[in-house]
Amino acid sequence: MPEKKIIIVSNRLPVTIQREDGNLTFKPSAGGLATGLSSVYRQGNNLWIGWPGLYSQQEAEKDLITQNLRNDHMAPVFLTEEDVHEFYEGFSNKTLWPLFHYFTEYAQYQQVLWEAYERVNRKFCAQVLQYAGPDDVIWVHDYQLLLLPSMIREKLPNATIGFFQHIPFPSFEIFRLLPWRKQILEGMLGSDLIGFHTYDDMRHFLSSVSRILGHNNTMGLVKKENRLIQVDSFPMGIDYEKFARGTKDPQTIEKYKRYEKLLSDQKVIISIDRLDYSKGIKQRLKAMDIFFTRYPEYIGKVSLVLIVVPSRVKVDQYQALKEEIDTMVGWLNGKYSRMDWTPIHYFYRSFSFHGLSALYSSAEVALITPLRDGMNLVCKEFIASKLDKKGVLILSEMAGSAKELSEAILVNPNDIQQIVDAMYQALTMPEEEQIARNEEMQNKLKRYNIHRWVEMFMEQLEIVKQKQTELELR
Ligand code: G6P
Repeated sequence: MPEKKIIIVSNRLPVTIQREDGNLTFKPSAGGLATGLSSVYRQGNNLWIGWPGLYSQQEAEKDLITQNLRNDHMAPVFLTEEDVHEFYEGFSNKTLWPLFHYFTEYAQYQQVLWEAYERVNRKFCAQVLQYAGPDDVIWVHDYQLLLLPSMIREKLPNATIGFFQHIPFPSFEIFRLLPWRKQILEGMLGSDLIGFHTYDDMRHFLSSVSRILGHNNTMGLVKKENRLIQVDSFPMGIDYEKFARGTKDPQTIEKYKRYEKLLSDQKVIISIDRLDYSKGIKQRLKAMDIFFTRYPEYIGKVSLVLIVVPSRVKVDQYQALKEEIDTMVGWLNGKYSRMDWTPIHYFYRSFSFHGLSALYSSAEVALITPLRDGMNLVCKEFIASKLDKKGVLILSEMAGSAKELSEAILVNPNDIQQIVDAMYQALTMPEEEQIARNEEMQNKLKRYNIHRWVEMFMEQLEIVKQKQTELELR
């Protein structure tokens, strides 16, 4: 009997291909998911299926890409410009993303976008079917592919299918606004195991399944026709050792020394996100303004390093937000700057691993205040990088990670006064208290790292499949 394969499917592959001066360049992703799953998809005949990030029309180029990826256990799903516009920028990021992050006023409900979403999920399914055998294990990731589990199930009824949602699942009152709510739930229920970051997301999903489809659950186990579907929470961790070790790397140390010199005599607050309205960047900037007004003794002594990573640049709301942030930063710097001091150091680009690692270790405070976030890994990376355990994390209650990191200063990101108070508390917190809080958080993050997360999901998937077999034998 051939060995069972594990196939990972996500919208993006863990590598992005770009065309530079007529040549193709392959840029591996340094993200948490890619790291965690590299031990899985690179083994045996396993593979990762996803979009390589470029449009390719010529068959010869597609063949070349396919060949190259195959050597590294990957297979591409080629999307057309129209697919990217309607499926990725469209239904995924103009409908599902805002709705699932509670930005109902941004969500667009357009039939043409929905049809593209179905069409592209089918494209992914066709590629999965090219490689998957009837008993293989298929692990589908995130909101771009909510229909894929049931599409695969239809063709491979015995396959083991896991699904993990990396973004929040909204409460029933929000979810039911979606015209295609039934199809989305049915799509997800093609899985054997459905995972969320938090217990609340899982509860919201189960409530929608019960109220919209009428399927109740017992301890997260849903019975649908003759199938069992387990729903559970698996808070995603980080590659703890990579960040802890990273701070000792000579390249990090060199950058660290440079930053320390440039920002000498100053306390540094860091803010690092993709440019996204869900991240609460504007609220953070407002808080900086009130902070300097309320505590003028910190003018010249504290600065914010604001890293905003470009994202979804063709979607209107992201373009508008970029302009607002530019304006706010300019206004704040105009208001408070001195010849020898700038309050906000603003970077609209991504940083290298060593650059981030140096910032994490040199910053006194991390200000991570998303209005809504499935998990948020930046706050975990900051804590893991604090070898001397000194530093303070201010974290939004609305981030999934707040459930685990209860020793951070937790704030409501809409309460600007509370953010200002938290900044003052962070900057004046005694060192022993910082160490005590960080030690607790480090212990949790070390234990529940990204590798443990993968193991726990895979173990649970196997358990559900066994329950399913027992049910069939009865
Ligand atoms: C979030 C989503 C991911 C997505 C990432 C980057 O973390 O959960 O699925 O890949 O954002 O967004 P992008 O639109 O660039 O893929």
